[in-house]
Amino acid sequence: MSVAASSALALFDDAHLCDPYPAYAALRALGPLVRLERYGVWAVPGYAEVHAVLGNDSIFRSDGGVALTDLANRQILAGTVLASDGEQHHRLRRVLSRQLAPRAITRLQEQFTDRARTLVKQLVEPGGFDAVALAQQMVADTVMHSMGLPDSTRGTLLTGANATFDAFGPGNDRYQQALPTASAMVAFLHERVTRDSVRQGSWMGDIFRAVDKGQLDEKEAIPLASAYTAASMDTTILGLTEAIVQLARHPEQWALLRQKPERAVQAFHESLRLEAPIQGFGRIVNKDTDLSGVRIKAGEQLWMLFGSTGRDDRKWGPTADTYNLRRQLTNHHLAFGAGRHGCAGAHLAVMQAFALLGALAEHCAHLALSGEPERVLNNLLRGYKRVRVAVELSQDATAAQSAVSSRRVQ
Ligand code: HEM
Repeated sequence: MSVAASSALALFDDAHLCDPYPAYAALRALGPLVRLERYGVWAVPGYAEVHAVLGNDSIFRSDGGVALTDLANRQILAGTVLASDGEQHHRLRRVLSRQLAPRAITRLQEQFTDRARTLVKQLVEPGGFDAVALAQQMVADTVMHSMGLPDSTRGTLLTGANATFDAFGPGNDRYQQALPTASAMVAFLHERVTRDSVRQGSWMGDIFRAVDKGQLDEKEAIPLASAYTAASMDTTILGLTEAIVQLARHPEQWALLRQKPERAVQAFHESLRLEAPIQGFGRIVNKDTDLSGVRIKAGEQLWMLFGSTGRDDRKWGPTADTYNLRRQLTNHHLAFGAGRHGCAGAHLAVMQAFALLGALAEHCAHLALSGEPERVLNNLLRGYKRVRVAVELSQDATAAQSAVSSRRVQ
């Protein structure tokens, strides 16, 4: 049995959030599990160990262990698909899977491609564009529409999702500030997501249909609805924006994408591997167990560092820190989790990326960052709130723009 390592790392302080990678490398060097003294949890920094934890949900449980405070686990996450186990999890997940399964999502591909092309034409101008605004609009127009909630709820959903992720963290200032908004989000869903307000045939409509068919209990409907509202927006917006940032920083990778726009899927996976939009989630251990030679006791909590697993050179080799959209098996990253709780919306996120990055590759010859992007500081999320990108349009796009201008002049 190994001697357990420990660390005084301030995992949620601004300095760490701005650049977590040196500390992640130090944790991986310390051992497979490292006791984080400030938070009383085990950090799991390596790919192999996080993969093992995700693959064993009978010992590593989600209920009561996904977030770092009891309050968030009990009041914000209780009854959600993310924070349930066993039979309850299976029942909730089955309802989501009907809507989010690859077969169902693939039917939306054409709609996503049309939407992405229209948005890129509207928002990507010769003077440059904001990658966050573009990604946000793509998600709003596709995912929010599929959810089936009134358009008037969009603003509240976006603010609420961000606060919900802050509320997973320890009881720091960021958490305290987010708690009222995250709690208000739960109240908002109870008030606004009703049989009458949601569109028939939409994702939310399907939840109520499952209640009517006896597949779900009435009281399970709103926690399940939060799987869509909390999990599907910021994650994808940050992931799409990050991919644009990586492509703008690496012109040779952009050229590879332009040669074959279908490489958009690899371009997206590679940016998720390198910069996981959700940096960590927890689990609680329900019986004494060993993980890579370290003894963990029943009732102890683990904090899986998805962001660190993407940089683990034991998995990705000496180029782990490099963005390379031709990397073999880059889609084996853990930014979507894995196992029974693995991201239910992964295929949906990938389809949005395929459409949006593909449309950008058609429309723009070159991308370059105009200044340093502004970072989001959140207990769990990693990414940007503002990214100005300078562009040179492709010849086709320039020709189309001149045609529009000359039509305007006449
Ligand atoms: C780039 C975008 C996304 C990323 C990085 C991401 C990441 C994750 C991760 C890491 C988990 C695992 C949680 C755990 O093991 O405890 C997860 C679960 C989940 N995600 Fe995503 N996600 C993304 C997009 C989406 C979208 C678009 C949706 C839905 C429409 C979605 C719905 C869910 C749900 C419902 C779960 C819980 C699954 C369960 O507990 O069974 N996600 N996601």
